[in-house]
Amino acid sequence: MEKEPMYYGSYLQLDKIIESQYPVSFEAGNEPAHDEMLFIIIHQAYELWFKQILFEMDYCMDVFKKEKINDNSEDLNLVRHRFKRIIKILELLNQQVSILDTMTPMDFLAFRNLLTPSSGFQSKQFRLIEARLGLVLEKRHQKDYYKRTNEGGFTQKDFQDINQTEENKNLLQLVNDWLERMPFFNPTYWEQTSESLPGNHPFWKEYRDIYVNGLSEREKNKSVDFDAIFFQLYPSDLSNEQKEMLSTSFSAAAMRSALFIMLYRDFPVFQTSYQILDSLIEIDHLMSNWRHKHLIMVRRMIGMRVGTGNTSGAGYLEGALNKHYVYRDLSGLSTYLIERRKLPKLPEGLIRYLGFNL
Ligand code: HEM
Repeated sequence: MEKEPMYYGSYLQLDKIIESQYPVSFEAGNEPAHDEMLFIIIHQAYELWFKQILFEMDYCMDVFKKEKINDNSEDLNLVRHRFKRIIKILELLNQQVSILDTMTPMDFLAFRNLLTPSSGFQSKQFRLIEARLGLVLEKRHQKDYYKRTNEGGFTQKDFQDINQTEENKNLLQLVNDWLERMPFFNPTYWEQTSESLPGNHPFWKEYRDIYVNGLSEREKNKSVDFDAIFFQLYPSDLSNEQKEMLSTSFSAAAMRSALFIMLYRDFPVFQTSYQILDSLIEIDHLMSNWRHKHLIMVRRMIGMRVGTGNTSGAGYLEGALNKHYVYRDLSGLSTYLIERRKLPKLPEGLIRYLGFNL
């Protein structure tokens, strides 16, 4: 039998997509609310883009799962490229809020009560993006909201799927492993002292001196943070609470590699790795920009009323905005940079190994 020629509508399954908008207010017995169509379509558009983001993330995570990744390989370049794509999608998702803003609070009120207890809180794909990026349930704002099986919570199946993500390594943990494997401080490239503690490595001894000497009087205590974050060394009188405040989601070894990449990012061989780290920071910022835009829109739309999903509404969203950064440690690395002209010179052996052409 001859194959049907390709047809736009059937290839894109438009019958299904275009026929998937059912405003509840249009049902018999209700007063049709014009803006409910926009409300449905905008959510569906978000969910389609969430799907694409998850698809790109899966690819990137598979690369990081490999035992060995060559820094000059196509793999890493594709990760960089696909992270950039995620960034562009998130930029679009941020802009999309302004379309919904054309709906007035009174327009929304015309159908809002019909939606209870469903809510964007239950967006499984949004939760999967957060979880795969590295946001774990224990660190979520109002984590008990997630465990509710009654009004506003997830179905058992969705809750299980979101939780299951945590059984595998998330992107943050995979990037941590990748950074830990970096060979920059390998003894073969440096004139090693007999001491093997990372803080005694010739590079870090020199770097720490330059950093600490460059601190102003008011910033002097940053040397304590430096030792804690990069070497897990703490003054004996530091309380557990202070130690906790200095803890990072990345290991000290991974933090050292990440800082090293940021410092020497102008060398071509570090470009891809640098852009990958920078993209993670950007993705984190764009997620939080979205949370902020959504919060402002919600305040305007429902004021201080509780959400249809039964949370405290704007109050809950504000807490999530403040708490749900995943890559704060990476953006915080700027605290520990020094002026470019003061950068320690790298040993010839390392430069040759990394393929720098001086
Ligand atoms: C009239 C427009 C909207 C209003 C008034 C609104 C309101 C809310 C409220 C009050 C919450 C907190 C949970 C609750 O108690 O319901 C929430 C959460 C959420 N909404 Fe919306 N929303 C709107 C549009 C959207 C759109 C277009 C999306 C796109 C997918 C969305 C996605 C989400 C997500 C992902 C959460 C969870 C956020 C988090 O936990 O950080 N919302 N929304």
